[in-house]
Amino acid sequence: MSESTSSKNLFWTILATVAITSALAALLVNVVEHKEEAKHAFFRVVEVTDETDDPAVWGKNFPLHYDAYKRTVDMQRTRYGGSEAEKRNPTAADPRDSVSTEKIEEDPRLKRMWLGYPFSVDFREERGHAYMLVDQRHTKRVLEFKQPGACLNCHASTYNFMKKLGGGDITKGFELMNKMPYAEATKSVTHPVACIDCHDSQTMALRITRPAFLEGIRNFKKSQGIENYDPNTMASAQEMRSYVCGQCHVEYYFKGDEKRLTFPWHKGLKADEIYSYYEEVKHKDFVHKETGAPVLKAQHPEFEIYNMGIHAASGVACADCHMPYKREGGTKISDHQVRSPMLNVNRACQGCHRFSEQEMKARVETIQTRFIEARNVAMDALMDLIEETKRARAAGATDEQLKGAWAGQRKAQFFIDFVEAENSVGFHAPGEELRLLTQALDAIRKGQISLRGVAGAGKVRAD
Ligand code: HEC
Ligand code: HEC
Ligand code: HEC
Ligand code: HEC
Ligand code: HEC
Repeated sequence: MSESTSSKNLFWTILATVAITSALAALLVNVVEHKEEAKHAFFRVVEVTDETDDPAVWGKNFPLHYDAYKRTVDMQRTRYGGSEAEKRNPTAADPRDSVSTEKIEEDPRLKRMWLGYPFSVDFREERGHAYMLVDQRHTKRVLEFKQPGACLNCHASTYNFMKKLGGGDITKGFELMNKMPYAEATKSVTHPVACIDCHDSQTMALRITRPAFLEGIRNFKKSQGIENYDPNTMASAQEMRSYVCGQCHVEYYFKGDEKRLTFPWHKGLKADEIYSYYEEVKHKDFVHKETGAPVLKAQHPEFEIYNMGIHAASGVACADCHMPYKREGGTKISDHQVRSPMLNVNRACQGCHRFSEQEMKARVETIQTRFIEARNVAMDALMDLIEETKRARAAGATDEQLKGAWAGQRKAQFFIDFVEAENSVGFHAPGEELRLLTQALDAIRKGQISLRGVAGAGKVRAD
């Protein structure tokens, strides 16, 4: 090798090294920029302010996010979840061209459990976010019963409405909206949950906009010894990826004549702790038509149940499974088509789990099949208790004689409803959900024992 060739080689080596180093540096800058870009810097095609609630306007700056967001209209069934479209003819009164399946017809035990309450009249399978406002406006629970503006908290983009109503004070607006008649309040909102309800318009950072969650999580943290908790300043970025969902996918009730939307987390997030809170404040949702028992209705406690599971304990957020990252063009974005992860196992699960799609699906379905078997056993037992109490009541049993049966029904019904209303069919926290069903069975057993010797009771299942 001559000297000149070797120096030429050196030259090329240096050049190559420089080229690679600067390419690496450029790549790093690029990565950092991309991260920053995702958070802050983006091309503003249009100006968006804290007053812009139309997602189509935000969509001009983020067309990929907006496209996915709009796709929440898609309806697709999974083995136990998702939703199925039932076609209907739109009318002037109800413009929907589809509804999802009526659950109380699929399982009449649900209807019986809720006799005396609007849910026994109409309760459908939930579907995508795009439908939340129309489905609420046209449910028989709204059309045939008087409901308060508080219903809107979780079914519309209410951020600006609350802000205007309260003259800039959202909590005040929340209080005024809650006690308005529903028919009046719903006229002031246009969109289902929109960009502005989850994001800061200037930084795109996630934020909590719902006073009920701010109050609920503050009460919960207090029960854990943490005072004055505020998620908007104290939560981690990963926690916010679940908290934004926890504004709506939670158990709730309307407190007092003010109809204040309240999350019953004062003693903790466990069903037992929530039940104990309701016992303490002596809350009942309705009196059961057949038995006279003062009972509770649990609603969609996904956030609470998820918090009892292995994924929450491992720091996995709702958004990790329901809004997983996807690649679009050169960028990685969060999938805003919020839906069942079973329609998207590859991105929702396989980033963390190294098993085939088929295997992951099978694992979920095994958990769900076990859950349904246990839930059916508990549900049948509850029907027996209701039947027995009804017969004792018809035969003239006194309130005093029915006290034990009522207590059993109240607790069992709440626990069964808690896991029933939690929409993952046992997946979010399999062990916890089976535990709650065994607690329900125990309450039913005690209720039935209390009826021993009472005239009319004890004749169930003679058929
Ligand atoms: C580890 C992944 C994972 C996490 C974390 C998770 N989920 Fe789920 N979720 C699932 C799976 C799996 C199902 C069952 C879907 C099915 O059966 O089609 C489900 C079902 C649901 C459903 C019913 C969907 C349907 O199409 O029937 C809702 C609503 C839901 N989850 C909300 C939440 C919320 C809110 C959180 C956070 C508080 C959360 N999930 C956290 C995996 C997850
Ligand atoms: C704390 C939040 C929250 C409040 C308050 C709330 N909802 Fe919902 N609602 C949800 C969530 C989450 C779902 C989807 C999960 C489900 O259906 O279980 C839902 C689903 C529904 C559905 C579709 C499924 C069905 O039940 O037929 C209707 C209709 C509905 N709600 C009506 C109402 C009415 C009426 C009120 C007031 C009495 C109300 N909602 C108050 C969160 C809320
Ligand atoms: C403003 C309240 C609100 C917020 C915030 C919210 N949801 Fe929902 N979600 C609803 C309602 C209401 C429905 C049911 C709509 C219907 O049936 O018409 C629903 C439905 C769903 C479904 C069922 C979709 C389907 O196709 O069956 C999933 C899954 C879901 N939400 C997950 C989430 C996750 C994950 C988050 C957080 C990233 C979240 N939601 C945030 C209110 C909310
Ligand atoms: C129910 C709450 C919710 C709504 C509504 C919502 N987003 Fe998001 N968005 C999220 C979550 C969760 C993330 C993930 C944020 C993180 O990891 O810090 C996200 C992330 C983003 C990001 C950051 C980049 C990325 O993809 O992770 C952008 C940009 C964005 N959303 C735009 C929008 C736009 C535009 C709309 C309205 C069309 C919208 N979002 C509606 C919850 C929401
Ligand atoms: C961000 C990472 C992450 C994602 C996404 C994720 N998981 Fe997991 N999963 C975990 C961790 C961590 C555990 C705890 C066990 C472990 O450490 O391996 C776990 C445990 C499980 C278990 C065992 C549950 C138990 O009770 O022991 C199942 C089943 C499971 N995951 C299914 C799923 C499915 C289905 C999805 C998609 C819908 C999913 N996971 C998404 C991280 C994840």
